[in-house]
Parts: sequence; structure tokens; C-alpha cells
Amino acid sequence: MKAKLFFSIFIVAGYLILPAGVHAQELKAVKLLAAQEQSGKPLMQALKERKSSREFSARELPLQMLSDMLWAACGINRPDSGHHTAPTAENSQEIDIYVANKDGLYLFDAKNNLLAPVSSGDIRGLTGEQAFVKEAPVNLIYVADLSRFRSFSPEDKDLYAAADTGFISQNVYLFCASSGLSTVVRGWINKPALAKAMNLKPGQKIILAQTVGYGK
Ligand SMILES: Cc1cc2nc3c(=O)[nH]c(=O)nc-3n(C[C@H](O)[C@H](O)[C@H](O)COP(=O)(O)O)c2cc1C
Repeated sequence: MKAKLFFSIFIVAGYLILPAGVHAQELKAVKLLAAQEQSGKPLMQALKERKSSREFSARELPLQMLSDMLWAACGINRPDSGHHTAPTAENSQEIDIYVANKDGLYLFDAKNNLLAPVSSGDIRGLTGEQAFVKEAPVNLIYVADLSRFRSFSPEDKDLYAAADTGFISQNVYLFCASSGLSTVVRGWINKPALAKAMNLKPGQKIILAQTVGYGK
């Protein structure tokens, strides 16, 4: 029993890591799995099947599926340079993906391939104005940190943050189509309420959210 517990707990990048799904008063980091690069349907098939869906079951995503989805979204696909699966203006990597699930709110840390804990408590219902957001297991919130742009006018910062979010969102759409998941990207959000619940800093801007899960 002791040995089992020992092997269930890891220390990675300064975070205490517990297996996904563990309920704890204090939210713990979740170590993600290496992406399965050979999985899923071919690209042309995924493009054919890409669509928005708004009916979700409460079924949890397996850790491998969650890991693959986040890697597809904007994981590191060239470890030598640290570049991502999605392009960003001047490689600013200004879009953070926050993950809201029933346990709490996490920040996807692509470099360390983990979900860093942000806050415990289920805020899925605040990630959008549609009823399904609190049923689905995962809501992604795309947040731009405009301070990461080294140049650009304020107008261009907004434009590029929106464009960069679109690339990530489409990666998630294609991953979901390729893996039999349902998804919809969403702009219908009470952004001030969500920003408050997420405790965002000035300069952090919610761009869109995206619900992911299994269909009903
Ligand atoms: C920027 C943007 C914002 C959107 N916001 C919402 C939303 O708040 N709620 C929703 O149900 N769908 C939303 N959608 C999904 C669109 O309604 C959907 O993409 C469109 O109807 C076309 O359907 P399809 O994605 O199945 O091709 C949004 C899509 C985009 C690109």
C-alpha cells in the first residue's frame, strides 16, 4: 500500500504531482503524458468531420486524451527551439490555455507538460453562458498575455492575439474530429465575471473559450 502511494506521487518542476482525478482540498498539479503522435484519423478525414457540437456527456476524458489534446492545441512540437504546434506572431507564445474541470482551474504548462494548479473549485459554469459548459468535463479558456508581445501597436496586439487563438482553437477542433470528441469554440462569455473568478492580472485578456468532451 505504502509502495503504491509512493509510486503515485512525483515531484516534477517544483510541483507536487498526483494522478489526474485525485480529489484533494488543495489542488495539485497533474503530470500529462507524452503525446501519442501516431493516434487519430488522418488529417483529410479530420477536416471532413470537423464541426461544432453543443451536446456533451459528463464522461471524463482519459489522461492520455487530455494530454494529446493539449499537445495538439499548442504543445511543443520542436523541442530544440521550443516552438509550438500553433503559430504565434513573432513566436510570442502569448496565449495561455487555462483548463477548467470539476476539480478546479489549471494552467497548461507546455514546457513541463503538466497542468499547473491555479485554484480549486469548479468554475466550469462561469466559462460561458450556455448550459452545456457545466456538463462537459473540460472547458479551455484562451487567455492572451499582451505583455509578451515585444512590439506591435495596441490594435495589432489585439488582432494577433485573436488570430493566434484561432490557430489553437482549430488545432483542438481537428484533434477532436480525429479522436471522436465533441467540441465548440465560444465567445459568448461573461468575461468580467470569468476574469474575476480566474483572478487574472491586468494585461491578461480572455479571448475565447472552448468546450471539449464526449458527445451525448
Ligand atoms: C469566434 C467564434 C465565436 C463563437 N462563439 C460561439 C458561442 O459562444 N457559442 C456557440 O455555441 N458557438 C460559438 N461559435 C461556433 C459557431 O457558431 C460555429 O463555428 C458556426 O455555427 C459554424 O458551425 P461549424 O463550426 O459546425 O462549422 C463560435 C465560433 C467562432 C469562430
